[in-house]
Amino acid sequence: MKTTIIPEIVQGLKVEQKYISSKFFYDDAGSRIFQEIMQMQDYYLTDSEFEILSLQAEKIHCALQFSEPFNIIELGAGDGFKTFKLLEYFVSKNIHFNYVPIDISQEAISMLCKKLKERLPGLHIQPQVGDYFEILKGMSTETIPNLLLFLGSNIGNYLRADAADLLRLFNDNMNVGDKLLIGFDLKKNPLTIQKAYFDSHGVTKRFNLNLLLRMNREFDADFKLDDFDFYCHYNPSNGQVKSYLVSLKVQTVYFKSINERITFQQNELIWTELSKKYSVSGIETLAKLTGFKTNQHFLDCKHYFTDSLWEK
Ligand code: AVJ
Repeated sequence: MKTTIIPEIVQGLKVEQKYISSKFFYDDAGSRIFQEIMQMQDYYLTDSEFEILSLQAEKIHCALQFSEPFNIIELGAGDGFKTFKLLEYFVSKNIHFNYVPIDISQEAISMLCKKLKERLPGLHIQPQVGDYFEILKGMSTETIPNLLLFLGSNIGNYLRADAADLLRLFNDNMNVGDKLLIGFDLKKNPLTIQKAYFDSHGVTKRFNLNLLLRMNREFDADFKLDDFDFYCHYNPSNGQVKSYLVSLKVQTVYFKSINERITFQQNELIWTELSKKYSVSGIETLAKLTGFKTNQHFLDCKHYFTDSLWEK
């Protein structure tokens, strides 16, 4: 008998509390919708971090106290729009460093390098395509200081234990004295947070429904997008935004290419994302727990977001 391996994305739909890992958002279409999200007024995270890296590049450089040359290694560089301001400052001051953007998407890395070569011809770029864990492992042999960048509140996608595992893994692959600049979205007026995710234009809804389109395409499934809705909720007491797809009726979806059927009850949820919000003291606790010293927090003027500098 022929057995088919059940793909990870479908496995999460076969359990009691259905879920899809948020890493599946970022196919080509999903990455484009995420660009749209970042351009929305209500999605304040991008503007806040852009402000930090634009206005505080000099302070960040001073806080590093690195000898030159050094490496700036960006994990999940994406289109690198935010990082540009920081790089621009470093280049303008003739600071001697290599920029190592890492991303899983070849397309994103190619576009980033093209843009950077045009706009910052003096920059040394060593792009890497692939899984950043693999690439990180090669790093501890480096004898020059390393600054790791993990920006954009990407850490917010991880539950506490998983976030701690990931940060310990970063730590294990760093040398003493290496630094990590990591972006956290801060707790704030709950309505501000709610609006960033439950946006009035339905862009975040489209971002979530794209997961169903992706499965229709990849596994020849027959999800009908009109029969699902989007819901999300911010809980100010634990800082968690949780996002869901909601089945609007009892329905069975057939995945033709793997011959699987999944039934959804009316109002049954598929959990798609955690976007965790932190307090400054929560950030410091997490640093200590994972083997880091907190050097400094760089906040935007509204105190919505921080890029925090940690040291091994
Ligand atoms: C890219 C994970 C930081 O959680 O805010 C945006 C993704 N999801 N709107 C976030 C996202 C819905 C984003 N991160």
